[in-house]
Amino acid sequence: MVTLIGHSSNPASLTSFIRKTHLSLDGVSMARGDQLLILKNLKAYYPSKKGLVRAVDDVSLEIREGECVGLLGESGSGKTSLALAIMGLFEKIARFSAGASKDPDLRRAFDKGLPGTTDLPGVQGSVIFKGRDIMGLSQEELAAIRGRELSLIPQGLGHALNPQHSIGHQTAEPIEVHDENIRLIELKRKVLEYLGLVRLADANLRFVLDPASFSGGESQRILIAMALVSGPYMVIADEPTSALDVTVQRQIMEVLRMVQDEFDLSLLLISHDAGVVAEMADRVAIMYAGKIVEFANAADIFHEPQHPYTMGLMTSFPTIAMMQMRAGKRPRLRGIPGDPPDLTDLPKGCAFHPRCRYAIDICREEVPEYREVKPDHFIRCHRWGDIEEE
Ligand SMILES: Nc1ncnc2c1ncn2[C@@H]1O[C@H](COP(=O)(O)OP(=O)(O)O)[C@@H](O)[C@H]1O
Ligand code: SF4
Ligand SMILES: [Mg+2]
Repeated sequence: MVTLIGHSSNPASLTSFIRKTHLSLDGVSMARGDQLLILKNLKAYYPSKKGLVRAVDDVSLEIREGECVGLLGESGSGKTSLALAIMGLFEKIARFSAGASKDPDLRRAFDKGLPGTTDLPGVQGSVIFKGRDIMGLSQEELAAIRGRELSLIPQGLGHALNPQHSIGHQTAEPIEVHDENIRLIELKRKVLEYLGLVRLADANLRFVLDPASFSGGESQRILIAMALVSGPYMVIADEPTSALDVTVQRQIMEVLRMVQDEFDLSLLLISHDAGVVAEMADRVAIMYAGKIVEFANAADIFHEPQHPYTMGLMTSFPTIAMMQMRAGKRPRLRGIPGDPPDLTDLPKGCAFHPRCRYAIDICREEVPEYREVKPDHFIRCHRWGDIEEE
């Protein structure tokens, strides 16, 4: 038996205490550094008029208890689709947009495939969360995990909050879904506690207002509170600062950093902005055309990138150039020539080859394997170890 002598009765602190002492409320003991989420060969394809959109294409990744992994890639590289696939929401959304289409081929695509392709749309591969493959679970079983153990702060403030309900009502929802017998007074106390935790000004007066009464930064705080209120092990934050101005971005990053530390959360921080990822991530995965091309600790990614795409990406952000300068390097801001490929019509071999200054024959023919080249450093490139940044 564990006695919590002198510990605060505040549930946020209790959750944090449980996480930090590696206890567990549900019988599965997790320790900091244990693998919490493992993705194995994950694929997520949408049907479209042009063919299959290979938005997530053979992604393997793991996130440990208590760490922040940054997922960085250009717009359209598949980051949101990966988040949806992990949450078990991808297929629902893909089916919904295909079903809304006037094209009969698209509406039938999940059952019959698309003309000209043998692969089916949908999700394949494994999503192992706390040691259990959650890919095969029913929608009810998944719903029991979603929000309670694994939460998403969705991209796009505009659509994320329901304009019809007060923010207090919406913050209460994730708790009510998993505990329908909770007393109203306890529910209200919890809602106000979490809205206070994310430092929403005057939460105790304003929780009855609808979303239109809140600024972008405040709405993002509310979404963070909603993701945390049921005490998850892991949160996926999809572009949590992208719709906000610079000062508010900084405040939101501070809130995220504070809650990650307070709850000892695992965080998958998704962004197209390397500066945002550099502020918080312990490790960083670089996504290009649906694939992870490099995954390593943050210092290696930002100071010693090994994949040609990562090398180019790091020359696209002034904040990273300044970081490198402070570390005694001579950064160059030159970006990457060309555009990312159409995910319905990927180039043969390495999808980056048309933009890669190091491409050789094999790059145009064979897809490079994703391999661990050093402990905890993964790369997808035929020429790893054979090129030096110019
Ligand atoms: N509902 C959908 N139906 C078909 N294609 C989609 C849908 N949603 C996104 N896509 C396509 O999937 C690809 C990856 O998109 P997304 O995951 O949103 O990338 P990111 O988050 O990195 O910007 C893009 O080519 C995008 O156009
Ligand atoms: S596999 Fe070839 S084309 Fe692709 S990143 Fe490596 S060197 Fe460039
Ligand atoms: Mg996105």
